[in-house]
Amino acid sequence: MSGLHPGTIAVHVGNEADPATGAVAPPLHLSTTFRHGPSGERVAGYEYQREGNPTNDRLRETLKALEGGEEALTFASGMAAMTTLLESLPTGASVLFPNDCYSGLRMLFEEFLPERGITADTVDMSDLDAVRAACATPLSMLWIETPSNPLMKIADIAALAQLGHAAGAVVVADNTFATPLLQRPLTLGADIVMHSTTKYFGGHSDVLGGALVFAKNDALAHKVAHRLHVTGAVLAPFSAWLTLRGCRSLGARMAMHCANARKIVAFLAAHPAIERVNWPGLPTHPGHAVAAQQMRDFGAMLSIEVRGGREAALAMAGKLRIFTNATSLGGCESLIEHRASVEGPNPRSPQNLLRISVGLEDAEDLIADLGQALG
Ligand SMILES: Cc1ncc(COP(=O)(O)O)c(C=O)c1O
Repeated sequence: MSGLHPGTIAVHVGNEADPATGAVAPPLHLSTTFRHGPSGERVAGYEYQREGNPTNDRLRETLKALEGGEEALTFASGMAAMTTLLESLPTGASVLFPNDCYSGLRMLFEEFLPERGITADTVDMSDLDAVRAACATPLSMLWIETPSNPLMKIADIAALAQLGHAAGAVVVADNTFATPLLQRPLTLGADIVMHSTTKYFGGHSDVLGGALVFAKNDALAHKVAHRLHVTGAVLAPFSAWLTLRGCRSLGARMAMHCANARKIVAFLAAHPAIERVNWPGLPTHPGHAVAAQQMRDFGAMLSIEVRGGREAALAMAGKLRIFTNATSLGGCESLIEHRASVEGPNPRSPQNLLRISVGLEDAEDLIADLGQALG
């Protein structure tokens, strides 16, 4: 299906009718084991669920087509995808991470990588001069998250890919916030795209999953696949099936998520109780020009900094009736969260910051809810 737009790919690739029955919706294969042929061979390429199954393979096809990669692997969660990839690095490797990133990734590189003799440094990925300086010594991996969590910083994927490659690094981009409907890092020079499919791909806050999509089906892709199949953090078939179901409405959902976010940001940016709105679609956002170049739209994740500090932010979140005060993102329902409260003992987020995942409700109702909570 080459030449098609991402919205069409998301509906069709991996979601083809079942050749055996003609069923339009994909079948769910729960079998853990597959019958051998007379000479002990794999009859249809499958042997044991941990090493692969037809429902997962459909989702892998969707992910490859959407991101434009040669290989895709699915995992039990986004964290399992990150862990399996980072564990594939040898002792002595060095990785450059963004200074604003998902807190789970921070825990991985601060707590677990040093135990394995892997050096982890951080830099502001929106500051190319700072990254250039950090790339002066050889690097094994450069990790991009754009827009970043929770400050919505924008990293220039094409420029970072060049800097990373010049330092000898494999360039990885967490594309969870944007999805391939809005941004395709492999086309901009990244080597690997990482997703928490728990978010927009699943789309309904009811399925955990993760994915890696590799530009090339190369030695590293084989190494990570082997590690996944041996260590076993695989995606369950029912989770793959639910995620495939989410893919079919991904294009429509992303369009509405983005349209709602645009309206909500216009309201919040003009509200006197709000000190700052972090959303790359705002022309005043420092990464706006880069975002406009590398994204089809600006996404539906944003953060606000409330006047009056932590107490004012918590009070506002507590007054909302339609927004749910909960972690995570990418579902139909709008969520709001005080990030500093969930980031463990050393929170990085400003105390007056609330992160918002704009859902699929009517924007007018969301704006009215924000209005009554801000007073
Ligand atoms: C940007 C980002 N990457 C990765 C993850 C981790 O994914 P999961 O929760 O599926 O393990 C999250 C989770 O919130 C996230 O927001």
